[in-house]
Amino acid sequence: MARFTLPRDLYHGKGALENLKNLKGEKAVIVVGGGAMKRNGFLQKAEDYLKEAGMQVKIIEGVEPDPSVTTVMNGAALMAEFEPDWIVAMGGGSPIDAAKAMWIKYEYPETTFEQMCVVFGLPKLRTKARFVAIPSTSGTATEVTAFSVITDYDKGIKYPLADFEITPDVAIVDPDLAETMPQKLVAHTGMDAITHAVEAYVSTCNCEFTDPLAIFAITMIQRDLVGSYNGDMTKRASMHNAQCLAGMAFSNALLGIVHSMAHKTGAAFDDYGAHIIHGAANAMYLPKVIAFNAKNEVAKARYGVIADYMGLGGANDDEKVANLIAYLRQMNNDLNIPQCIKHYGADSYPCEQGFVPEDVFLARLPEIAKNAVADACTGSNPRQPSVEEMEKLLKCCYYDLEVDF
Ligand SMILES: NC(=O)c1ccc[n+]([C@@H]2O[C@H](COP(=O)([O-])OP(=O)(O)OC[C@H]3O[C@@H](n4cnc5c(N)ncnc54)[C@H](O)[C@@H]3O)[C@@H](O)[C@H]2O)c1
Ligand SMILES: [Zn+2]
Repeated sequence: MARFTLPRDLYHGKGALENLKNLKGEKAVIVVGGGAMKRNGFLQKAEDYLKEAGMQVKIIEGVEPDPSVTTVMNGAALMAEFEPDWIVAMGGGSPIDAAKAMWIKYEYPETTFEQMCVVFGLPKLRTKARFVAIPSTSGTATEVTAFSVITDYDKGIKYPLADFEITPDVAIVDPDLAETMPQKLVAHTGMDAITHAVEAYVSTCNCEFTDPLAIFAITMIQRDLVGSYNGDMTKRASMHNAQCLAGMAFSNALLGIVHSMAHKTGAAFDDYGAHIIHGAANAMYLPKVIAFNAKNEVAKARYGVIADYMGLGGANDDEKVANLIAYLRQMNNDLNIPQCIKHYGADSYPCEQGFVPEDVFLARLPEIAKNAVADACTGSNPRQPSVEEMEKLLKCCYYDLEVDF
């Protein structure tokens, strides 16, 4: 028995933001990130629409990329004071995810961060507020998912919160918001989206409801991501929908160890001056994980189906898997994303020696591998890695070695 949950309403297409006018309620809080929404006028528009709907509006600004537990707790305290009946989260995955966690704390002030992290363990929300999510990046699809990713900076670990309770009530997928994304953000979020779709398709929780969403998203991303990166706004709009379809798939089919590894490496080297950006981490690890998972016959056949839909050729599943890996690596090249951590510069671009020194990586590897195996995304991966295998896999991701185990 399985469950398939999506937002009750999804408004899409140019100008869809306007639907905020039709919300019924008294008080809305808008949660945004570092300033992109304000600079580009979308925050003002959202505020005006909500006021037109007769609501009092408060704004929580400044949610940082890869939001922290502290940001969540501070935002929840502001919500407790203002008592909104709508939470409108707008921006990239970071502010929307932070707002989801604030929502939990607002509804249940006694909840600790540890309790929020219990997978599918949340109490019923919507006793105080409902939730609207409006993405401005084309990747995380958090506007339709049951997930939120919050970073505990004391531990240097990203924790995925997972429960259908935090699937938003309303998603507004308006391509206008994605037009201002800088190239690098298009690249990273786009590779995040294809990773979602590929991991969902081979997940042990895949089903007939998630498969078509995942496959169609993959073919759209294949068709449109590089063009969107190069400035084609029609393709940019298509990518905004494609990432959302991928989100519908993975919210219900779950993910796999590409995400386990990205979650556990993302903030692990912050003391060396940078993050490994989520989408870039996925882009580097996905080809390695495909090679690892393809030792499982069922997963191999499913990668073969993906390669077929992408029209990559290959006489048998082994050849199809090899073609899929080669295609994804070429996408990384086209998007100026390195193939491995060793070559990942502090600015995220490829370079000879990246910001993570080899000795530091090796010293932290056992702990990272253990944490990655324990990540909430590992359970639905088609091949269960031991901690030793995870160490080997992460080494392949550091040095760009072939995965032959
Ligand atoms: N909840 C989920 O299901 C899910 C899935 C995957 C990833 N995530 C998490 O989401 C976070 C990443 O989110 P993201 O990739 O959307 O990036 P982000 O929200 O961290 O934003 C990155 C930067 O882009 C800027 N920005 C956002 N939209 C812009 C626009 N339209 N124009 C110009 N600048 C813009 C932001 O201000 C910020 O500086 C990570 O924490 C990741 O772990 C969550
Ligand atoms: Zn992701």
